[in-house]
Amino acid sequence: MVILSISITEQLVSPDVEALSHKRTTQAGSTVVAYDREDPFYCLDAMCLEWSGNGKGDYRYSPEEIKLPNNGFVSDFVYESHEIKAGFVPMKELPCAQGKEDECQSVLITLREKACNVTLTLVYTVYKKANCITRRVILENNEDSPLIIRRLLSMSMDMPNMGFSLTTFDGDWAREAHRHDRLLQPGIFINDSRTGSSSNKHNPGFLLSEKNADNSKGRVYGFNLVYSGNHFGFAELNSHELVRVGIGINPHCFEWTLKKGDNFETPEAVMTFSEDGFNGLSKNFHSFVNDNIVPKDWQGKDRPVLYNSWEPCFFKFNQGKLLSLARLSKKMGMELFVLDDGWFEGRNDDNAGLGDYSTNRKKFPFGLGRFAKKIRKMGMEFGIWFEPEMINENSNLFRAHPEYAVSQPGIESTLGRNQLVLDLCNPLVRDYIVDSVGKVLDETKASYVKWDMNRHISEFWSAHSRAGEFFHRYILGLYDILGRIFKTRPHILLESCSSGGNRFDLGMLCFSPQVWTSDCTDPALRLDIQGGLSHLYPQSTMGAHVSDSPHQQTLRNTPLSTRYNVSCFGCLGYELDLRFLTPAEKSEIKDQIAFYKTHRKTFQYGTFERLPVVSSRLENKSVWRCSSKDNKETIAGFFQTQAGVGEEADTLRIPGLESAATYRVTTRPQKLYIRRFGGLVKHLLPVTLNPDGFILRTANRFYSLLDCVENYECKGSALAAGILLNNQFTGRHYNNNTRLLGDYGSSIYTITKISS
Ligand code: GLA
Repeated sequence: MVILSISITEQLVSPDVEALSHKRTTQAGSTVVAYDREDPFYCLDAMCLEWSGNGKGDYRYSPEEIKLPNNGFVSDFVYESHEIKAGFVPMKELPCAQGKEDECQSVLITLREKACNVTLTLVYTVYKKANCITRRVILENNEDSPLIIRRLLSMSMDMPNMGFSLTTFDGDWAREAHRHDRLLQPGIFINDSRTGSSSNKHNPGFLLSEKNADNSKGRVYGFNLVYSGNHFGFAELNSHELVRVGIGINPHCFEWTLKKGDNFETPEAVMTFSEDGFNGLSKNFHSFVNDNIVPKDWQGKDRPVLYNSWEPCFFKFNQGKLLSLARLSKKMGMELFVLDDGWFEGRNDDNAGLGDYSTNRKKFPFGLGRFAKKIRKMGMEFGIWFEPEMINENSNLFRAHPEYAVSQPGIESTLGRNQLVLDLCNPLVRDYIVDSVGKVLDETKASYVKWDMNRHISEFWSAHSRAGEFFHRYILGLYDILGRIFKTRPHILLESCSSGGNRFDLGMLCFSPQVWTSDCTDPALRLDIQGGLSHLYPQSTMGAHVSDSPHQQTLRNTPLSTRYNVSCFGCLGYELDLRFLTPAEKSEIKDQIAFYKTHRKTFQYGTFERLPVVSSRLENKSVWRCSSKDNKETIAGFFQTQAGVGEEADTLRIPGLESAATYRVTTRPQKLYIRRFGGLVKHLLPVTLNPDGFILRTANRFYSLLDCVENYECKGSALAAGILLNNQFTGRHYNNNTRLLGDYGSSIYTITKISS
């Protein structure tokens, strides 16, 4: 089957097709196989195809591997018909992107297999505003005998090689989505997951960029998948200098039987393209996620500043402790109180309780409903944590229904975080979760849910699924549950979590407008994590919290200002013990939240760009910026990792503003604490004081110094060229105009248009 791959900005039927098509005016070598006996130049292996089967001379990785009803793997799907429709084409069981009829248009191209009565429909929807195209396929078996799908990806696309580099976002627990780039070399590169979820190992999204593309220029192609299970993306450079890209469900341990009259629908792939480098590409993805992926009720809606009980309490709390934390958080301006793990019977550590939903009466003697009411009475919303897909062997549910856990008879089950996975292929398990979670939500009138999933899947087997169908049926089960709980309660803000970003994908985002980005709350690492994810997902989707320092995950000390300066480029939250903050820190947090609320729209929905400080010798600095939709307000974060000595002047370069307009640039005021300077304070004082003595400790509690504040008025053209900031501290002569960043220091600048 051959359709010419055309630029995604072109119409399908365009006068340019002939010019854009890949030519075949010679034979591609002596070993090639010609698709047509009459035409020796017709060699599939050397052509750009829109879909390709097996056994007809294309030796690249095929998007499909199907044992057809004729018992063979050779497949040749050829064009039969097509249909153009306004709007998108809804899916039966999987979530998909959505847009109004006048915002998107679809084309369905039906192909028929030449030897068997089997059809394959390629479904495309073009989202004009976001400059994205979604693709998926539907395979239908009309033969009497069944067929077996061993692989069926959602898309495949071929292009001539343009010196492409491939970018993936990889990591593991607490170090998700670190960006990696490599030149595409002959052969195949696979970006996949086999853990049962989209995984923290390799995010499903990946990019291809032409040689010399950077953040602001050059052609970049982006691919992602609306799916939360095992994914498989690949890029292959073949011997004819053609690049094939594909993405879809991972064929790993996958085998799906399709009986007569049945069809199989793949998840939706998303493709986008920009000539304006990586930032241009992420703008497309951001617009697509904000407008076409997250649930309608949450599109463009402010995300609340939340307080989460996990890092400050873990499992050790009672109602009194929580209420005092809630009171403090309310005083500082937080809007939502989230009760994390540990609230239910038997859950005093991570060995027991998952699967049971009765309230721990020792912690909440008057019940959870009463507790939630108290929180609301303080003027805060109430939110609650669940881990509904899991079960502990030490739980009432497991004692009553051991068969609810995923396990294979005759094989000892392996544990992850002391827990087993519930079998979502079993309809009784799904009903149990929908009922139990629903009851708690109704009792507490929660307006927020954190939905966690804390382990990878093992012993993947179910009495309710064929072996090769388990992974996909698990995800279909999950989507069924999420739909039943949350589509009927659309006012609830769902934050998906899987030990942080182990399931940060477009499938979950169709239900959950935000995701707990990472269990790592150290801002130094968050720069890489949020920065990596920002290529694919907007700030409105990233939960980002200020936590205690030294950080739980790294033991690193970072300034309170930097913890905030990184978190505010996402959905801001606080996850630290507010009771032990000094009065000076409490007042700083109050100021931080007030600033965030003033600029919330820009932080959550503004146009985001990553701007590395290219001149930096040590590569220790970076800038993030986000601009309001009308471009009148820009917020820029200047971040430094390890401090150097005597570096060149720092530049703040903000491209894309109106050249002739005048802007006011101001540093957001932030505090410096005396404690930070340790013994160095002796240089400022007439007497030498013990840095850990009573006087300086008391002074640190109540006083702070204002960090250097800069003010400029300048044209957009000057900002595009880069304005020079005050010098950083270099070991001598501190004054009010010295920027004191040190290790992991940072500042925020507001850039406001004051005249045209
Ligand atoms: C996971 C989450 C954390 C927290 C704990 C609770 O690790 O990522 O944020 O909710 O579970 O057990």
